Amino acid sequence: MADEIVSVNEFQVLARQALPKMYYDFYAGGAEDEHTLKKNVQEFQRIILQPRVLVDVSSIAMSTNILGYTISAPIMIAPTAMHKLAHPEGELATARAAAACNTIMILSFSASASVEEVASSCNAVQFFQLYVYKRRDIAVNLVQRAEKSGYKAIVLTSDTPRLGRREADIKNKMIVPQLKNLEGLMSTAVASDKGSNLEAYANETMDPSLSWRDIAWLKSITNLPILIKGILTREDATKAMEVGAAGIIVSNHGGRQLDYTPATISVLEEVVQAVGRKVPVLLDGGVRRGTDVFKALALGAQAVLVGRPVIYGLAAKGEAGVRKVMHMLKDELELTMALAGYRSSRILKLHSSIVSDHPMLTCHVQTLFLFVHSIRRPWAITEIRLVKGKRSSITSTLA
Ligand SMILES: Cc1cc2nc3c(=O)[nH]c(=O)nc-3n(C[C@H](O)[C@H](O)[C@H](O)COP(=O)(O)O)c2cc1C
Repeated sequence: MADEIVSVNEFQVLARQALPKMYYDFYAGGAEDEHTLKKNVQEFQRIILQPRVLVDVSSIAMSTNILGYTISAPIMIAPTAMHKLAHPEGELATARAAAACNTIMILSFSASASVEEVASSCNAVQFFQLYVYKRRDIAVNLVQRAEKSGYKAIVLTSDTPRLGRREADIKNKMIVPQLKNLEGLMSTAVASDKGSNLEAYANETMDPSLSWRDIAWLKSITNLPILIKGILTREDATKAMEVGAAGIIVSNHGGRQLDYTPATISVLEEVVQAVGRKVPVLLDGGVRRGTDVFKALALGAQAVLVGRPVIYGLAAKGEAGVRKVMHMLKDELELTMALAGYRSSRILKLHSSIVSDHPMLTCHVQTLFLFVHSIRRPWAITEIRLVKGKRSSITSTLA
């Protein structure tokens, strides 16, 4: 029963029981050794919180603002494919849950409901995630339909010139159902009975030539702001700024694309620094607890996106399951803020200056301690100490 569930991770167990193996593996799996998949979670667990006490936390402000849209907490729904494999109501249930929680859902290009169906299912603010196929007319068609249907931003996924090698899907011979958004435009059937149909289909259709130059083309076909999802380095964050991205999503696709990329939380601060508060930086990958959200905010994210837990909630309990997942994360974040001595999630937005003797922090960090001090000051300091033999530190100033 949903009432008995006390943490987001429990939904994964229920989803496993509810779903056929092929679909569960598709949702849960990552690329190759699943190193990055695991690291996304583990790296959050290495960050330790140092609370401040005797702060009046009787009232805590959780809401934040993304591209001018206020959401109830800095926790959004990541774009994930084919929700109808998890639950018959698919993305319509997810979108209704997003509306009920007053948050933003990013609808996947590969959704099992169309942009129009999802837009008309509720009044939530929605963004549309785009893959660019070799057939560029498909992108033009979908972006323009999304804009006409009231989506507020385009999220360009940049980490998928080809599909990552997901071995569970290969073993299960994962089948791709007809993608709803592509009905009447192209068939998603693939003439192959070997390995993952999804991989064969993606590799036939994705445009591996997509490059920074194409952002100008994308801008020429839409008036919507464009966020770039899949940034993991300061170099690419700087490029994203140069081409006029309206936001950046630090993401490694939940460990499903290139394995052995760093955990997103460990590169967040580098990206935030490069962006310098010009546009919002969001993060996804491994967010399973309110404390994870808190850590991402403390390191400069404006909000986080949640991928698999939403699908697990959907698979287990439909719309109510997604609502429960989002509520649990929000409640845990609120409790974390109270116990850590913070009154506002916005105060956690920070611009950072790194003081470190390690050029490659993420390679050398052994232990990571996060100290948050904010009391009695108009601004706050977050100090992170990284220990491995010799000591280095990150000092961040909170606005
Ligand atoms: C089953 C599944 C399907 C996904 N489909 C998409 C997609 O269609 N487009 C996209 O940009 N990202 C996709 N992602 C990546 C998510 O947007 C997000 O980056 C990732 O799930 C975050 O990690 P988490 O699952 O640990 O929260 C998918 C992830 C999963 C698990």
